[in-house]
Amino acid sequence: NPWRVSVVIGSLRRESMSRRIADALVPLAPPAMALQELAIGDLPLYNGDLEPELPAPWRRLRDAVRASDALIFVCPEYNRSIPGAVKNAVDVASKPTGQNCWAGKPALVITQSTGPLGGLAGSYATKQVLAAVNVATLPLPEVYLSRIATLFDGEGRLLPDTQEHLRDVLASFETWCARFIAR
Ligand code: FNR
Repeated sequence: NPWRVSVVIGSLRRESMSRRIADALVPLAPPAMALQELAIGDLPLYNGDLEPELPAPWRRLRDAVRASDALIFVCPEYNRSIPGAVKNAVDVASKPTGQNCWAGKPALVITQSTGPLGGLAGSYATKQVLAAVNVATLPLPEVYLSRIATLFDGEGRLLPDTQEHLRDVLASFETWCARFIAR
């Protein structure tokens, strides 16, 4: 069976570039990986008072994270850091205490930006948060997609060079995952 790889899209807007990249990853992934989105847009903000009633979106997220073999985060950076919706999702599935759903999973972090830096600071912030919940992020290659609007053609397809880049990244990620996932 292929690994279940859950993809967190770090932007909630419909026309998100992060979403377009995440969609483009599906046919580039090696056969060992089955990618599916891990939706984070409907989660109430983390609040320990809600634990007894367990909001349905929290339960859905926690179950989906637990069932994941590996994780991919495709995110913008917001004000040089992790987008709030992503941080909230990490918080929600890290609780209640002693039931951190993320623990021990391998992850790939891809950031993108319209500007020249490709979300580098946001990537580091995201990796820092993931380290706190015992997620093992792929150290190399780092993936910062800068000037993101220039990486798509007129039909909204990723340019061939970028597709090849991401295919190589996913192959490296497969090798990384094999160190963490029992076959
Ligand atoms: C941004 N953007 C941005 N870009 C950047 O390079 N550094 C930054 O710190 C920020 N900060 C920031 C904050 C907020 C609140 C927004 C909405 C945007 C721009 C961002 O990189 C660009 O719009 C992304 O391409 C948005 O990703 P999606 O929504 O297309 O996936």
